[in-house]
Amino acid sequence: MQTKLNYDQIAPDYNQRYPDSQPWERGQALLNLASQLKAKTILEAGSGTGFWLNMLHQVTPRLYGLDFSAGMIAQARKQPAPIKLTRGTATQLPYQSGTFDLLYCVDAIHHFGDHRAFIAEAFRVLKKGGALAIIGHDPHEVDPSNWYIYNYFDSVYETDLRRYPSGKSVVNWMIADGFHTVSVQVAERIVNIHVGDGVFNDPFIKHNATSQLALLSEDKYLSGLKKIREALEQARAGNERLIFRSQIDVKMFLGYKA
Ligand SMILES: C[S@@+](CC[C@H](N)C(=O)[O-])C[C@H]1O[C@@H](n2cnc3c(N)ncnc32)[C@H](O)[C@@H]1O
Repeated sequence: MQTKLNYDQIAPDYNQRYPDSQPWERGQALLNLASQLKAKTILEAGSGTGFWLNMLHQVTPRLYGLDFSAGMIAQARKQPAPIKLTRGTATQLPYQSGTFDLLYCVDAIHHFGDHRAFIAEAFRVLKKGGALAIIGHDPHEVDPSNWYIYNYFDSVYETDLRRYPSGKSVVNWMIADGFHTVSVQVAERIVNIHVGDGVFNDPFIKHNATSQLALLSEDKYLSGLKKIREALEQARAGNERLIFRSQIDVKMFLGYKA
């Protein structure tokens, strides 16, 4: 199975995941952190379409984004904030040591391949007193039945276990690389309940909306949808209502450079 996703292909539609109606607690956590640090220079690794960097423009105009995908960088250039964008890889950051007050990534570390190299590079490019925040989902700590996508689409959960570093490893690597006051908190709890056929209105059931489903071949994706339809049929026959649950804790791993 493929484990790398072509972000150039999905870049034009990527911002559909950020409707204006959501409060985006992850963004609030980043804003609070940037304000506490009085951050003057901020880097997002795996910055995608620049959604979070644009939000941080209220704290500083010195915003840097690094991404591997030219397509995502092209979308980020459309943000109103003056983001300095570079194409590159998070495991070899193209910046001088001691440059940033805050370095963060959101929903991206599982794409970086060598997770540990990214953490070491983050330590190098941070200023003394600066902070690293790694924000995202940790499939190693969840009950897979909390996300219906894991139940109905074969191999997605197992692939996530391979792609994502465990939270425990992230904490250990951060401490080993010299970060202090390393902590883990839930930055956002996503809870969505879809009842019956309403599941097909879930934006995250689209083939390209998340890397979990986008990595599936067309056949595997369609067979997951078929399983859902069959389960719905069975529930209807038994006069039951089927509930599709998505409960995902978005964690923030935070550490400081002395
Ligand atoms: C799920 S998206 C998240 C984008 C953005 N952080 C957000 O939350 O909207 C993951 C991003 O990581 C980027 N990426 C993947 N591998 C990378 C690497 N090795 N170095 C830098 N960026 C990478 C992808 O191109 C993509 O834009």
